[in-house]
Amino acid sequence: MPSRDLAEAEAMRKPAILFVCLGNICRSPLAEAAFRRAASQAGLDVEIDSAGTGDWHLGYPPDSRAQAIARAKGIDISDLRARQVTPEDFERFDLLLALDHQNLNDLVAMRPPNARGRARLLLDMVPGREGETVHDPFYGTESDFEAAWDDVSEAAGALVRSLADQTSG
Ligand code: 4NP
Repeated sequence: MPSRDLAEAEAMRKPAILFVCLGNICRSPLAEAAFRRAASQAGLDVEIDSAGTGDWHLGYPPDSRAQAIARAKGIDISDLRARQVTPEDFERFDLLLALDHQNLNDLVAMRPPNARGRARLLLDMVPGREGETVHDPFYGTESDFEAAWDDVSEAAGALVRSLADQTSG
């Protein structure tokens, strides 16, 4: 393909966003679910996925407590399966959104030079909450999963608004 066509194809590509936590069984599946719903409600065509920096839970469905909070919000996440983030994800996704600072550090360390994808903290997307962490609820209680849901929902709303602004020119 001539390079101008390539550039045009690139420009027409839909935005692609990957949510990244440690295990890919608690926070990032919830972020994926909240953002998928918010994007769909806003009529945005976006590629969405989630992954973990760790490999302990590969192939497992989300934690039952994460499934329960999603179900309580009307979303079934039982079909999701944990996977590990790879260097190729920096070509496939424009934005890799880390749930906490350790996840962000791990992404930055893995990012290939000159990769297309940028790594950021998820709550950096929320005006006034830059630098904040979505706390890991894995060793916590139901209320920690509620708090994680509230955080990822707020971020999903902010992200949709920002993408809608960009695509409306
Ligand atoms: P997540 O939660 O990163 O939000 O999926 C965790 C899941 C598993 C572990 C830690 C956090 N773990 O240590 O196995």
